[in-house]
Order: sequence, then C-alpha cells, then structure tokens
Amino acid sequence: MERTFLMVKPDGVQRGLIGEVVKRFEQKGFQLVGAKFMVITKEKAEFHYEEHQGKPFFNSLVEFITSGPVFGMVWEGDNVIALSRTMIGKTNSLDAQPGTIRGDYAVHTNLNIIHGSDAPESAEREIGNFFGPDELFSYDKANAQWI
Ligand code: PPS
Repeated sequence: MERTFLMVKPDGVQRGLIGEVVKRFEQKGFQLVGAKFMVITKEKAEFHYEEHQGKPFFNSLVEFITSGPVFGMVWEGDNVIALSRTMIGKTNSLDAQPGTIRGDYAVHTNLNIIHGSDAPESAEREIGNFFGPDELFSYDKANAQWI
C-alpha cells in the first residue's frame, strides 16, 4: 500500500476546484489519510521543489506556490503514486489530455491546478515536509473489498 502527497495549488483553490479534485480521487477508490489547508512558507516551498533548484522557473514556482492557500493531502492505495500522476495529466498544458485534471482545467503550464509526488522517495519527503505522523489517519473503508 503506497502513500502520495497531492496538493491543490493556489490557482486550483481560487478557482474552487478543491472539491472536484477530492471527488476524483475518492471515486477512483483511494483513501484520504490526511488533509491540510495552509499557506506554505518559502523555506518549505524551496525544500518541496529542491530538485528544481537552478532551473529558470524555480523562483517563480516558489513565489506562486507561496502566494496563497493550498490544499495539501495524503492519499493511500495500491499504486497511488503512478495512478494519481496519470489522473493529474502531463505538466505541459499542451500535452495534458482531456479526462485528466490538468487536461480538463489547466490552460497554462505554470498554473496547473495540482501537484502530485512522482516517486516513492519524493512522496515520503513531501509528506514529511507538510505532515506529522499524528496528522495521518488509517481507517477501514466500507467498500475495501472491491478495490
Ligand atoms: S522538469 O524540468 O521536467 O523537471 O520540470 P517538470 O517536472 O515538468 O516541472 C516541475 C515543476 O515545475 C512546474 N513548472 C513550471 N512552473 C512555472 N513555470 C514553468 N515554465 C514551469 N515548468 C514547469 C511544474 O508545474 C512542476 O510543478 P509540480 O508542482 O511538481 O507539478
């Protein structure tokens, strides 16, 4: 059973897309184990995006992600890291397919609604950056036998 970190970015929050994003992952069959509405500090944003340090868009990315509240979540399920990336869609808005979150809602690459961890190592680091162990909850699901 994997866990991943997903985050509705400031543009997604301001466009009222938190519910739409949560609905998609609930209906897929994943389990929400943590959620937090927060404004990220510059330090946490730089740690979160540390693999992109030095890239031309790094400063604007940090500025954007700290510009307003985000909705951070931890989701659990089989292959949730790869499957959630598929559900999110490609980073480049021109490549994001209809049916994906970005394909359905994002026009620009730098305003792309949602972040999702891309590997087990980054998921663990990102979850630890935003959530303490006492903020994550496992519980039985009513329809667990079907997924
Ligand atoms: S890379 O260079 O391929 O590793 O970058 P990529 O994984 O595609 O994107 C990393 C994150 O940076 C965001 N991004 C941008 N932000 C602002 N401007 C531009 N041009 C830009 N290009 C990429 C992209 O949305 C990724 O953010 P997250 O939150 O990880 O989705």
